[in-house]
Amino acid sequence: MTDLIFKELDGDVIIEPFDCGDQVINSFLNTLALLNQKRKLSKTYTFCVKDSNKVIAFLTLSASQLNTGDARIFGIDKVPIVLLGRLGVDNNYKHKNLGIALIKIALEKSLEASNIIACRLLLVETTLDMKSYYLEKVNMGFEWFRDRKNSSILFIDLKKYEESTH
Ligand SMILES: CC(C)(COP(=O)(O)OP(=O)(O)OC[C@H]1O[C@@H](n2cnc3c(N)ncnc32)[C@H](O)[C@@H]1OP(=O)(O)O)[C@@H](O)C(=O)NCCC(=O)NCCS
Repeated sequence: MTDLIFKELDGDVIIEPFDCGDQVINSFLNTLALLNQKRKLSKTYTFCVKDSNKVIAFLTLSASQLNTGDARIFGIDKVPIVLLGRLGVDNNYKHKNLGIALIKIALEKSLEASNIIACRLLLVETTLDMKSYYLEKVNMGFEWFRDRKNSSILFIDLKKYEESTH
């Protein structure tokens, strides 16, 4: 495969040709990702082509919270979480485990972050059809939490994950 580098999104990354087939995710990368990064609202991690600096896969992380209701299964009112917000792999680079590689990095970063500022879950809200991707393909300990009308919420319990790997 083409030589790729993993890096945080910055102003030098070439974004424009990126197309993962989902216009909402494409548009986020084109218009908001860098702005949100500068405003400390989300952090975008990418794989870029080494020679051209073109982004071919990305994922965002931000701090969030589960509120009353959802948080109750943990026996408290509010649960601090890391939100895996957007994930996209360019159509020309799909099926090369880049999505899985980015999620693995997200998990590592969440575990690291949870030891500095407590956060209990790495959580993703995704389309219903993506449930099997997280549960069966990614295979990192994602658990199904609940479905909404058009989306599904899944998480990795960082405490449980840490205990199972020590
Ligand atoms: C979902 C996505 C990130 C996967 O990226 P990828 O790098 O191609 O995925 P990986 O190589 O890590 O894994 C590939 C496997 O995931 C599975 N997969 C991909 N999309 C899937 C989906 N929507 N539902 C279930 N499984 C899916 C495929 O079966 C594939 O397995 P195969 O290679 O044996 O056929 C990519 O297809 C994408 O950008 N899709 C559009 C945007 C999107 O839906 N983002 C997710 C929102 S959270």
